[in-house]
Amino acid sequence: MKSIREMDAPMGLAFFFGPAFIIVIVLLVGGFNTVSAIMVLILVLCGLKYMHTSIIGKYKTMQSTVNNIHLKNNSKILDAGCGHGAFTLQFSKKAASISEIVGIDIWSNKDQGNNSIEATQKIMDSSSLAGKVKLKTANILNMPFNNNEFDLIISSLVLHNIKPFTKRKAALSEISRVQKEKGQLIIMDIGFETKKYVPVLESLGYCNIDIVNTSYNGWWGTPMVPTFLITASK
Ligand SMILES: C[S@@+](CC[C@H](N)C(=O)[O-])C[C@H]1O[C@@H](n2cnc3c(N)ncnc32)[C@H](O)[C@@H]1O
Repeated sequence: MKSIREMDAPMGLAFFFGPAFIIVIVLLVGGFNTVSAIMVLILVLCGLKYMHTSIIGKYKTMQSTVNNIHLKNNSKILDAGCGHGAFTLQFSKKAASISEIVGIDIWSNKDQGNNSIEATQKIMDSSSLAGKVKLKTANILNMPFNNNEFDLIISSLVLHNIKPFTKRKAALSEISRVQKEKGQLIIMDIGFETKKYVPVLESLGYCNIDIVNTSYNGWWGTPMVPTFLITASK
């Protein structure tokens, strides 16, 4: 299977490694300074943690989430903002219960490295889900699907990219539109604003809503930028 471990929001790393680099230059020019050296160490550790979350941590959360899901036979799944299909691929072991997985994306390279429909298609073709995954270029705010089409909808690390917050409400409403009655929803997203999705989902008719901080595996550099996982049913 091809590697899909591309960095999420690669520019996020510049936030940590950029200042670390500048301080190192200042240290080299101005002479050693313990406080500055500690700052460099902290910034580098945060940058490494960001990389860990992007290429290891988030996969652990996805894997355990999918392990805990019960899919009914012939399930039709939507991965809204699929990127390289990291979440979709976790369903390989449950392929027998799946009729189709549709992945939509606008393929932004700012949000994920080497992001394109062609790259993701190659990954899917070399997986055990080949033939079951259909990829489309589409915006989560206006999806080209009928009402009540999908049994399970997942959207991972996508909604925080949509600003302002009112547009995220519109995205959740669009998700609800294409979700079948009695369907399941999984939303993973970055930052404390994710908690605000809960009342929106309640107003859209979702129930059994659970939200957890995925802790260490979801820290984007520091615990102040955590990943939350929401599960709900309709
Ligand atoms: C950080 S990546 C996450 C990709 C994948 N879901 C994962 O968890 O590995 C965010 C993805 O959301 C996509 N995206 C951002 N805004 C979107 C929108 N309005 N509609 C559809 N996709 C969007 C980006 O192109 C990118 O592929």
